[in-house]
Amino acid sequence: MLKIRNAVRTDLEFLVRIDLKNDGYTVSNKLDLTDSEKKDHCKKIERFLTERDRGAILMEDTGSHNPIAMIMYSIANRDTTYPWKTIYSELDRALFQSDGRFMEIFQLWVHPDYRRLGLATKLKLKLEEEARNRHVDLIYTHTEQSNHHVIELNKKIGYEEVRRGSIWDDVIRVSLIKKL
Ligand SMILES: CC(C)(COP(=O)(O)OP(=O)(O)OC[C@H]1O[C@@H](n2cnc3c(N)ncnc32)[C@H](O)[C@@H]1OP(=O)(O)O)[C@@H](O)C(=O)NCCC(=O)NCCS
Repeated sequence: MLKIRNAVRTDLEFLVRIDLKNDGYTVSNKLDLTDSEKKDHCKKIERFLTERDRGAILMEDTGSHNPIAMIMYSIANRDTTYPWKTIYSELDRALFQSDGRFMEIFQLWVHPDYRRLGLATKLKLKLEEEARNRHVDLIYTHTEQSNHHVIELNKKIGYEEVRRGSIWDDVIRVSLIKKL
């Protein structure tokens, strides 16, 4: 049986390992990390377990107690200038709630043995509950243009494409949002 639960500190190693896989990305900038880079990466992921405006939801196999799928998210703001490249300000302000807050998906992954069973869909629907609980009415995600199946997955549950283009490198990414 599978159960959905919020990630806790003891899940850090799993989240770090999965994030480092770069599964679903054509361009990897995280391989062959130095020890210091590994430490920084771990700290970055740990923030999803400790900060109020971030979180991670896992799906766990209750037999083995192993996590087999996860989604990570943060609450961002359309009107904030971030120290990294974002395209939020290019998106129509009218799409966003008055305080500019929205939820951004950071990572989505399902173990290869459990794919095409609707688990990613379930996690994304669970995320919608989380967004509503946090009084946020828009979820943003992006994926590489070549990930047709991820685009399809999103569109099937009501996401719409709002932008297509490069963001921080030459890769063309498709930005999708869902208004709740
Ligand atoms: C993308 C990923 C999260 C999908 O997880 P999943 O649990 O298999 O997805 P779901 O079962 O909820 O799929 C829902 C729908 O999306 C589409 N879809 C998902 N994976 C697909 C695939 N490999 N090929 C074609 N369509 C696919 C289908 O329409 C599917 O519905 P169907 O199975 O009834 O045809 C999973 O393949 C994965 O972890 N990939 C590696 C990481 C990754 O790419 N993450 C996203 C980065 S942006």
